[in-house]
Amino acid sequence: MIVELLVLVLGLWLYSRLKFVRQMRAIAKLPGLRQGTDLLSFPGNLWNLYLPWTRRFTLYKENGNDTISLVPYFAGRPAVYTSNMDVARQVIGGSHRCDFLKPEEFSQTLLVWGVNLVAADGDTWRTHRKVMGPAFSNSLYEMVWEKTAEIYKDIVHSEGWANRDVVETPVIQDVTFKLALLVLANCGFGFPFSWSSPPTTANGEMSVLEALSEMLKHQLVLMIPKKLWNLPFKALQSAKKSHDLIYAFMQEKVKERQAEIKQDGGFGTKTDAFSLLVRANSQGEKTQLDENELISNIYVLLFAGHETTAHTLAATLAYMCIYPKIQEEVFQQIQSVAGTGTDPIFADQAKLDKVMAIFYEAGRLFPAGWVMIRQAVKDTILEVPNPIGEEGTTSLPLPEGTNVIVDMIGTQINDRYFEEPEKFKPERWYGLAPSDFEKVTTFSVGPRACLGRKFAETEAVCFLTYLMRDYRVEALLSPGETLHGWRERVLDANIMVTLGVKDVPLKFIRRT
Ligand code: HEM
Repeated sequence: MIVELLVLVLGLWLYSRLKFVRQMRAIAKLPGLRQGTDLLSFPGNLWNLYLPWTRRFTLYKENGNDTISLVPYFAGRPAVYTSNMDVARQVIGGSHRCDFLKPEEFSQTLLVWGVNLVAADGDTWRTHRKVMGPAFSNSLYEMVWEKTAEIYKDIVHSEGWANRDVVETPVIQDVTFKLALLVLANCGFGFPFSWSSPPTTANGEMSVLEALSEMLKHQLVLMIPKKLWNLPFKALQSAKKSHDLIYAFMQEKVKERQAEIKQDGGFGTKTDAFSLLVRANSQGEKTQLDENELISNIYVLLFAGHETTAHTLAATLAYMCIYPKIQEEVFQQIQSVAGTGTDPIFADQAKLDKVMAIFYEAGRLFPAGWVMIRQAVKDTILEVPNPIGEEGTTSLPLPEGTNVIVDMIGTQINDRYFEEPEKFKPERWYGLAPSDFEKVTTFSVGPRACLGRKFAETEAVCFLTYLMRDYRVEALLSPGETLHGWRERVLDANIMVTLGVKDVPLKFIRRT
């Protein structure tokens, strides 16, 4: 018995080594990195996670093209790294003709509640997108604008900004993270949370907002198998407790929504994403998603839309401190569109292209969704465009199981697409025509592009418009620090699941 087991283990090991060698041979034709471990999986991620950031201006140039290979000697899989959008389009689409899927090993954090749109693939993804898609409509975006404006006014009032001419915020992320969470809670979940008085969970122990923040903070801990969730570690216990509270809260709300919609003859009047989702789900011949999937999809909006929007807003405000002339130009547009004495409204959004542009440009240089990971589900061929200046493509055969990593940091500073890519130049986005929609790659492109793009854009333009209408933004310098020193300190990446800038200390000076 022991001998048979050993033979089996040896056989499996040999099989995996042969597979590795085959993969390595195939992609080693592409120049690139040869090193001990890969970048994204354990243990390589412990010391390599920042490599795509720290070497962003040299990695591809040194290797002769914007698609390269990574062959690890000891741990991890060989992979193709690309900052080329044509290569990206071949792998990220998620259509039934696509030979690449999202590998499950990288989606574990998302599956805590069950299958959902972000983690699913193939036919399951199509079903989820079909149910989720209609929830993202103009009526939702209108609600996003109104709620963001309401929350902004609540911040000014509750934080005492209204009585001060100069407001100092040592970490602007404290504001942008809470704002993004509140907008999602109101417009995504339809829960009427306000800045100063959030509702509490059923047992009244903690606010739902606190439970959501707690769970988001510890989301990586919940990746361990559910059987181990009762282990006596503080972070795990706290994450589990908030998970259970939110789950109970969500279950109650699904039931409430279903009852409301039934009572209203299948319609209902609420326009938040949750209500629209529950309604869309009950309108088919049969229910398409089960209760866990519904909850999982609403939760995943939080995962996908919270840190991403909050980080990009923080980066945008940091850039405004560094470029006061651009800030003044944007302010002039806000004044000319919204005037004085009246509040900017949803219909103004289309005219506020300079506000949109600073958000796009900050998101280009600090892409919150910094990496997209796909895996070949069968042996396939990748068409790799030749280096700049050479026509045509080279066909690269890829064995099943090879990872293709779309490096969004590199993509968005690729000279193929941007002139002076290292510079903050929002004017590259001024007056963008609807046909140029996909020039903004921060949100990805194609059928699997960000479902929440318009949501994030509406929230960002609304918040920045109100804030910059009322205040001039300046860097809050440490004693003896210069603006250059502040820039060096702040405009650097902070990478976890998402990417953002370091803590941004700011001063708001009331405009007279
Ligand atoms: C600045 C803010 C945001 C950025 C930079 C961003 C970026 C992205 C990117 C790059 C993807 C593609 C990921 C992949 O294919 O692996 C994505 C997908 C997605 N995003 Fe966003 N996102 C933002 C805000 C939001 C918001 C506010 C929501 C929800 C309200 C949201 C919901 C989603 C969903 C549901 C998907 C998955 C779409 C699918 O697979 O069909 N995102 N986002």
